Amino acid sequence: MSTSLAVRLLNWYQEHARCLPWREHPNPYTVWISEVMLQQTRVETVIPYYERWMERFPTLASLALASQQEVLTVWEGLGYYSRPRNLHQAAQIVMNELGGKLPQDVRHLRRLPGIGRYTAGAIASIAFGMDEPALDGNIRRVLARVFDVRQPARSQAGEKRLWELANAHLPPDQAGEYNQALMDLGALICTPRQPNCAECPLNNTCKAFSLGVQAERPVKLNKEPVPHYIVSSAIIQRDEQVLIAQRPPHGLLGGMWEFPGGKVEPGEDLISALKREIREELGIDIEVGSAYGIYQHAYTHFRVTLHAFLCKLNGSQPHSIYHTEFTWAKPPSLKNYPMGKIDRQISNALLNLQETFISAP
Ligand code: ADE
Repeated sequence: MSTSLAVRLLNWYQEHARCLPWREHPNPYTVWISEVMLQQTRVETVIPYYERWMERFPTLASLALASQQEVLTVWEGLGYYSRPRNLHQAAQIVMNELGGKLPQDVRHLRRLPGIGRYTAGAIASIAFGMDEPALDGNIRRVLARVFDVRQPARSQAGEKRLWELANAHLPPDQAGEYNQALMDLGALICTPRQPNCAECPLNNTCKAFSLGVQAERPVKLNKEPVPHYIVSSAIIQRDEQVLIAQRPPHGLLGGMWEFPGGKVEPGEDLISALKREIREELGIDIEVGSAYGIYQHAYTHFRVTLHAFLCKLNGSQPHSIYHTEFTWAKPPSLKNYPMGKIDRQISNALLNLQETFISAP
């Protein structure tokens, strides 16, 4: 039996569901890809990436057969690069060990790389019609408000309570619709700031609304300050080429290409830190020339300010100590190497400069 909350929500969803590309012809593969892309990422940001992905990798089999570099290239710009690596690895497991079909139940789904509790619940409910809850950021906020959850949403007690609530009103055989209705309600009505409570189908049962505490729910955990790292990087030039190196396969930006460098340690200046990093990573001494640019980027758990310098080799040949490999590339070919935001900005700047230079009379 559906509860009255579920009925009101599903009625609202029938009229207000967003038209989204992964809802047009859903199948387990498209649901899986869209759910992984949508973690901590806005729908509007995901749509063009999703469409490009489906053109390039229309089936699970095509993803499994692709190279990791192709996969990272199509994902480039979405961030969280362990996700495409895990998708690729999971696709190979599904093809080689599971007969080409994604498992239907949460327990088996969670054995695949990159599929956690949320993603497993979303795939099981949306793609396979299983009665499973899913708790993402939007659903957390809606439930924390409707049921006035006072424990911080990201605390252990808050998580436990919210998963129980996500499960408590699941309508039998309609969990996929119900979960997506909560997501859409969170995105369209029960927004983080200034929710549109007047239009909400749940306003007559929402405890936070009746108490006037919507703005205070969900309760946030006191956050640690975000560390800020200063990094220097080398654009090592030789003839018309620059040196780029591929990061190790796991960890931050794993498998992506970069201009080598690293963190400035306490007491170091930018240039001595750069010389030290390049000696440690590539076994070479460099001459550091003019400053090229300063770049900022906010990752999930820290911020980076990166100072890039034009550099030259001092004699000996580099070898990969930290990196998987390195290459000398002409600026127009830099687009063939997947990179994080900052390294792509540097690559684009090098390319534009070269174009200006070449086209000058
Ligand atoms: N966010 C995460 N999954 C979603 C989905 N299936 N529909 C809309 N927004 C989402």
